[in-house]
Amino acid sequence: MSQSQLITNPTLARNHKLADTYQIRRTLSVGELSVIYVARHMDKGTLHVIKEFFPSALVKRSKDRCTVECVSDELQGKFMEMLQKFRQEGELLSRIQHPGIVRYEGELEQHGTAYLVLEYYRGITLDKYIEQYADSMDTEFLKKRLFPVIDALEYIHNLGYIHRDVKPSNIMLVEDGQTKLLDFGSAVRYEERTHQILTTAGYSPIEFYSGRSVQGPVSDIYSLAATFYYCLRGQAPIDVPKRLFHDTLERLNNDQPASPILSRVIHWGLAVSANKRCASLKWFKIAVQAERFWRRNLVLTRSKKSTARYAQQGQVIAGVGRNKSDAKHKVLTGASSNTDLSSSDTREPLSK
Ligand SMILES: Nc1ncnc2c1ncn2[C@@H]1O[C@H](COP(=O)(O)OP(=O)(O)OP(=O)(O)O)[C@@H](O)[C@H]1O
Ligand SMILES: [Mg+2]
Repeated sequence: MSQSQLITNPTLARNHKLADTYQIRRTLSVGELSVIYVARHMDKGTLHVIKEFFPSALVKRSKDRCTVECVSDELQGKFMEMLQKFRQEGELLSRIQHPGIVRYEGELEQHGTAYLVLEYYRGITLDKYIEQYADSMDTEFLKKRLFPVIDALEYIHNLGYIHRDVKPSNIMLVEDGQTKLLDFGSAVRYEERTHQILTTAGYSPIEFYSGRSVQGPVSDIYSLAATFYYCLRGQAPIDVPKRLFHDTLERLNNDQPASPILSRVIHWGLAVSANKRCASLKWFKIAVQAERFWRRNLVLTRSKKSTARYAQQGQVIAGVGRNKSDAKHKVLTGASSNTDLSSSDTREPLSK
């Protein structure tokens, strides 16, 4: 087909029917390798996510605005090779089931390409959440929203896989309070000797910059630590190649709501050299738990100080000590004008 007959708009139109089963409702995202749609199951009325293989550097739509065609015949081999890799995401997801991992529902083939069908989650990805609510970061958020990611990683590591693309835009905070790890397009069995080079600035460890490096669970730990860092600082760590010779990565400090143990574990997880890096996800669990304890202690310590101060001023805080959450609320209310405890402890923009 000549170039002039090819259409540049990469997405399928609204209401387009796929395999006589799904109707496209809207486009969620257009990436370098795929287009993500929300589609409705025509019989059941349920919503699903459909991921279409569409490597934009190699293909375009033909005149029918649906069929995916290579821009040149020479690229056909490359397209088929990448299509096979794309399908591996579905194959891998079909073998794993975990409450913290996106649920795979099947594969379709049409328009000269492949489509993965996934459960649809109404919510917000972690990157967008932090962009909007950076101030609302607290221990409960880390525990409720990132614990499931640690669990999901432990689960896949035990099965011999690594995700290789852990980052905030691949973490979905579902409206009902669940967290789902998305995008297994880069995941591999980690005994494999050679790897495709796929990197994300700020989140990929140094070993991802070589196709022949040893990669393993410790590689996901780097990306997880970078994700924690992002949550607490509102920005990703410096890109790892820039840290190789002169490491200027800033530590988390007291301005961020992180306990000393959590900051240490995050920095340990961000060690450039895999040999020096935190090698167990358990440390992240311990640190998040400890964080909670540390925060509570902080609040209680402040509670005692404020109680004393209020008592001195002749003000009595009724109920402090009877009911923990009530006490915390009262302390926080009292603290807002006296201490640096942020409003984050009381703000809940999304059900946590
Ligand atoms: N199951 C889902 N439910 C709701 N939204 C989803 C789901 N899967 C993906 N998304 C949305 O689509 C975006 C892209 O998904 P995904 O990361 O799987 O695709 P991708 O092609 O690998 O994209 P990228 O290259 O941008 O990482 C996610 O960041 C999220 O906003
Ligand atoms: Mg992604």
